[in-house]
Amino acid sequence: MADEPDIAVIEALIGSDLYRQSLRLREAVLRRPLGLTVTEEELADDAMRQHFCAISYGLVVGTVSLRPLDEATLQLKQMAVAEDRRREGIGARMLAHAEGWAHGAGFLLMVLNARMGAEGFYARFGYQAHGEPFDENTIPHIGMTKRLS
Ligand SMILES: CC(C)(COP(=O)(O)OP(=O)(O)OC[C@H]1O[C@@H](n2cnc3c(N)ncnc32)[C@H](O)[C@@H]1OP(=O)(O)O)[C@@H](O)C(=O)NCCC(=O)NCCS
Repeated sequence: MADEPDIAVIEALIGSDLYRQSLRLREAVLRRPLGLTVTEEELADDAMRQHFCAISYGLVVGTVSLRPLDEATLQLKQMAVAEDRRREGIGARMLAHAEGWAHGAGFLLMVLNARMGAEGFYARFGYQAHGEPFDENTIPHIGMTKRLS
């Protein structure tokens, strides 16, 4: 339909322009508001992760990464949607894409540390909170998991 937003979720290979745009979005959404930056340690860890981005009319408007913890478990990290593009279903599209990729690759469990406030987003898609809240990057988070089927 002509007025449907043009959104696709695709891989952002390290070193690509899509990866660089994704990194800028991560920094803008997840780090700068907390007075932090993406650390060298985190950049090094990126090599161990699978990166996806949502693009709209050629621009990255969302980003998410997956890091294997063991043969069966992936940790979903760095989920961020551009502030002016939230509540359009972009986060949901990226989550579904990440889960589809994970399932296809044979992983059985997705785990993540949700910022308090984003917990409701993940709960809508079947993630269950566990344990006590803890601080990460200076703000409270809660552990959440979902069995992939
Ligand atoms: C959390 C975030 C990724 C959600 O992305 P989004 O594109 O706005 O979400 P969607 O539009 O796909 O929302 C899907 C559903 O979740 C709901 N939802 C979105 N954000 C929510 C929130 N914070 N709490 C509860 N529900 C939420 C939407 O209303 C929608 O529900 P519906 O299908 O019944 O209409 C986005 O708000 C964001 O980037 N926030 C800042 C960074 C952040 O907190 N990242 C998570 C780190 S753990």
